[in-house]
Amino acid sequence: MTYEAAYGRNTAATDPAAPYYRPRRLRRTPALRRFAAETRVGPANLVQPLFLREGLSEPREIPSMPGVFQHTRDTLRKAAAEAVANGVGGLILFGIPEHKDPTGTGAVDPDGILQVALRDVVAEVGDSTVIIGDINLDEYTDHGHTGVLDANGDVDNDASIELYARAAVVQADAGAQIVAPSGMMDGQVRRIREALDRAGHQSVAILGYSAKYASHFYGPFRDAVESTLRGDRKGYQQFPGNIRESLLEVSLDVAEGADLVMVKPALAYLDIVRLIADHVQVPVAAYQVSGEYSMVEAAAAKGWIDRDQVVRESLASIHRAGATQIITYWASEFAQSLDR
Ligand code: PBG
Repeated sequence: MTYEAAYGRNTAATDPAAPYYRPRRLRRTPALRRFAAETRVGPANLVQPLFLREGLSEPREIPSMPGVFQHTRDTLRKAAAEAVANGVGGLILFGIPEHKDPTGTGAVDPDGILQVALRDVVAEVGDSTVIIGDINLDEYTDHGHTGVLDANGDVDNDASIELYARAAVVQADAGAQIVAPSGMMDGQVRRIREALDRAGHQSVAILGYSAKYASHFYGPFRDAVESTLRGDRKGYQQFPGNIRESLLEVSLDVAEGADLVMVKPALAYLDIVRLIADHVQVPVAAYQVSGEYSMVEAAAAKGWIDRDQVVRESLASIHRAGATQIITYWASEFAQSLDR
């Protein structure tokens, strides 16, 4: 029904053709726009990924991700403290070992590089922010897959989740408040929950990378973690054309004990974010991945887009689609300029 059909013409206006209803009234001033905002992303919604590279004496900028660094232990602590001062809601830590091997030993070693990172960051920032550990083997394996391989060279699901369970326990021992399995192995959340509970870590939460697509937007991340991946991840990550499969993955993760679920990547998958947000009761996170970051940085470097405005708009869009927690390489920088 049109407005006119419902309420009649605007008889008070001098021009009878003048619109009666004017949505622009609420967009007129910054105060009105702020007042009328339906959703607003704040610093607590943002999670900053940080990388610690074993054996580094100077921080190393990731070539395909200008402004993002592989840190030394020292600069990691500084970056964590700065992100917290800027108000981020959380930090997600990744470790890059000096040596990779077929079974990703560093991931389950109590003194592995990620466990070192977790202890250092906990010592630096305490519980003033939420500290998350990424559980996966791909940074640690010499073949670059997210699990161990069977005799045929396929990723062995059940053997891999045993290692994820051990990784979860050493990360929790090192102070992670949330662990985030990102390997897309079946049953991983349940196996991790069992192992955490048996080790006395009932209070450590699980953030499932539940709907994780086999995406080429992860390209620059391979650079970040010096991935040596042979082949691809299509045998375990989701096909980009699938929709309902995400609901299945998320339902399984929630049933297995996930406290939060994630959709990844973010911007090209906002329909999935909205779908999941409408269907589950746990918080929904989204990962604005490396390729999303690099595309904006590259276009901005050429002067083709307004970097700050595009970043803000992308964060607002991911939040609007239904993601409460947004993992983004811009978290620390942008947290300070968002409304608190
Ligand atoms: C797995 C992991 C990946 C990312 C986060 N965790 C790589 C992958 O699954 O291929 C990608 C993040 C990004 O692209 O920013 N350790």
